[in-house]
Amino acid sequence: TKGVITLDSGFKNTGSCESAITFLDGEKGILRYRGYSIEELAEKADFLEVAYLLIFGELPTIEQLEKFHSDIKKHSFVDDDVKKILDAFPKAAHPMGVLASLTSALTAFNPSCVNVDSVEDMYNAIVRILGKFPILVAWTMRKKNGLPLYYGDDSLGYVENILKMMFKQPNQDKYVQNPILVNALDKLLILHADHEQNCSTSTVRIVGSSHAGLFASLSAGISALWGPLHGGANQAVLEMLEAIKADGGDTAKYMEKAKDKNDPFRLMGFGHRVYKNFDPRAKIIKKAADEVLSDLGIEDPILDIAKGLEKQALEDSYFVDRKLYPNVDFYSGIIYRGMGIPTDMFTVMFALGRLPGWIAQWREMRMRKEPIGRPRQLYIGETERKFVTIEKR
Ligand code: SDX
Repeated sequence: TKGVITLDSGFKNTGSCESAITFLDGEKGILRYRGYSIEELAEKADFLEVAYLLIFGELPTIEQLEKFHSDIKKHSFVDDDVKKILDAFPKAAHPMGVLASLTSALTAFNPSCVNVDSVEDMYNAIVRILGKFPILVAWTMRKKNGLPLYYGDDSLGYVENILKMMFKQPNQDKYVQNPILVNALDKLLILHADHEQNCSTSTVRIVGSSHAGLFASLSAGISALWGPLHGGANQAVLEMLEAIKADGGDTAKYMEKAKDKNDPFRLMGFGHRVYKNFDPRAKIIKKAADEVLSDLGIEDPILDIAKGLEKQALEDSYFVDRKLYPNVDFYSGIIYRGMGIPTDMFTVMFALGRLPGWIAQWREMRMRKEPIGRPRQLYIGETERKFVTIEKR
């Protein structure tokens, strides 16, 4: 209603836009990308196919997907000066900070990607970032692990190549790709690909609404995702599970801490603003965690602690009354860990999955010519007062 300002902190009951990309039903635990259920897509599609679907609205034909992939491959490199920026970071720098900086820096090397008023310019920016972002992700991890930077092998599939860029050791000519890891990563990236107007996607939209470039908007989204209440939760879950393991697996103690209002501790990986039922992604990831670890022959006690915690929470009235269920972040880190990905890279993997969703939402916002985002406030500060010179204060 014009002129009336409704305060809605956290936008719990505010619709920020109309969108045709992702549908969520929090009560029923339904998630669909462009009308296709997440269960079907995770089972039957691959990540690049889902990226195409989210961005352009339709599942691609074989020809469309091949052209999309070949256009992306044309841009699967970064300006060599990016290595100097990467070298400037301290070894202890958190990978999300490195990734946000490098993503924003890409603008300097790809000025054609800032003004995207034409469909061609928009497509050009999209295939460039889909080609370059996985390299930034892989190089951030390789740098952390003290490995020489490496461009991968464009004859491989999109996700297969990402894994090779992340893990190939020097002088390891016989790098054999483990199909279990490729399938696991492909599924995880699909499950993270979009989630309507979550915190980081809303950030990408509002930054883009000022007509800042795509890469700068994505960099802002990466920073928003970093927070432990959002994508940073997957790292916080593993740190929590490790703490419980170090504490002799005493999950009951942590359940009490999570319920104690005077204790800032929360059960990380639990709860969701929209899902008041099981997060459908968590169900699929929990099953995948079992499969991947057993396929890899890994007996990880952390998985048992996670399952024990989940079981206790689902039987505890504090959590049941507040409809707190495991979310996408609760089990994902257990798979990343099984794949040999360091804990502080987990949220980077979330960003890699969310990239096509951020792109799709940013493109929709620009194509619908949405106005610049500029909310109002309810002012609760001082009424007018006269200036007092410092001598009289
Ligand atoms: C993601 O929005 C998206 O779609 C996000 C995401 C995506 O794909 O983009 O799904 C990805 O960010 C998943 C969420 C990851 N975050 C965590 O796992 C962190 C732990 N979860 C919480 O911090 C919390 O549940 C949020 C942030 C996810 C949701 O917060 P809300 O909606 O603001 O809910 P709230 O903080 O108001 O909590 C409601 C009640 C409170 O208790 P009361 O005041 O009613 O007594 O539930 C309690 C909270 O104290 N509560 C928890 C809890 N989460 C909520 N208590 C203990 N442990 C928790 N995890």
